[in-house]
Amino acid sequence: MSGADGLLLDIRDLTVELRSPGGLIQPVDKVTFSLDRGKTLAVVGESGSGKSMLCRAILGLVPSRGSIVFNGHEAGRLSAGVMNRIRGRDIGVVLQNPLSSLNPVMTIARQIMEPMRCHLKLSKRESREKTLNLLGAVGIPQPHERMACYPHQLSGGMRQRVAIAIALACDPQLLIADEPTTALDVTVQAEILGLLSRLQRERNMALILVSHDLGVVAGVADDIAVMYAGRIVELGPTGALFARMRMRYTRALFDAIPRIDEPLQRRLPDIPGQPPDFSALPVGCRFAPRCASAGEICHREYPPLTADNADRHLFACWFPCAGTEVGR
Ligand SMILES: Nc1ncnc2c1ncn2[C@@H]1O[C@H](COP(=O)(O)OP(=O)(O)OP(=O)(O)O)[C@@H](O)[C@H]1O
Ligand SMILES: [Mg+2]
Repeated sequence: MSGADGLLLDIRDLTVELRSPGGLIQPVDKVTFSLDRGKTLAVVGESGSGKSMLCRAILGLVPSRGSIVFNGHEAGRLSAGVMNRIRGRDIGVVLQNPLSSLNPVMTIARQIMEPMRCHLKLSKRESREKTLNLLGAVGIPQPHERMACYPHQLSGGMRQRVAIAIALACDPQLLIADEPTTALDVTVQAEILGLLSRLQRERNMALILVSHDLGVVAGVADDIAVMYAGRIVELGPTGALFARMRMRYTRALFDAIPRIDEPLQRRLPDIPGQPPDFSALPVGCRFAPRCASAGEICHREYPPLTADNADRHLFACWFPCAGTEVGR
């Protein structure tokens, strides 16, 4: 994802260091990727792999080192004021739980209008009109009546639509959606994902879609980044990655997708073991202690993130899967 003109976000060696009871930890460790305008990157990985921390680092909400270039500007060189404007206007955010991200004592209209008034300097009338259009665009029926509602008067799916409308209020160039469908039931999940994908195309907006479910992102992402223990371990175009998953960890995530053609009682193939503790990471490959194919070198040296031919499909494994078929 790096067409020079189309490049929107370029991240190099992004590292987040935090103090924890076990000492200093790096929940995001030398993460490098780029994202073109209008494209969707999915970030997938087990719970605790660093997906949310990566989003927070991109938003400048946690201290980080490395380089984040957004729209040609190096984030580290921007003043706090400019960063605030970028966060509020150029980058929209949708989080997992819409109830906690919405203000319970403010009508939904006010919550959508506020960023427009603050960042776009729209008049009351202009922002009301834009809010109505946005509520329609995110699929809220009778937007006129709903404008005066408080979040608790809406269903979970409707609240998430409102949260998306707030994120889109200032026409962002990048939308970061961190597990936007996890708290919703399955049919609503599919609707919200379809909505995000449609809005992303219509508005030519770039989207970073975080999920722990590889199945959820398969149909909407241009590229997929797989995270394990703070690092990207596999990264590539969705088609190439699905055609030939090189990491056993990625395959295990794929095998964890429930399939419609299999009996419901079938136990999901789990990845054995636990993700490593950030304060006691293994020396070599971080997945090696859980990997059936790990050899001696895997416990000694971290494998570089590389491609084995001239394509954009990268993986960090000493003994990558060779087959052309995915897991099953
Ligand atoms: N406030 C914090 N202080 C210290 N460490 C933290 C803090 N928040 C998260 N962590 C650490 O960062 C790691 C990555 O957390 P993160 O929330 O990014 O995971 P995630 O991939 O988003 O997981 P999930 O799928 O459960 O949302 C966690 O394992 C935890 O150890
Ligand atoms: Mg998270």
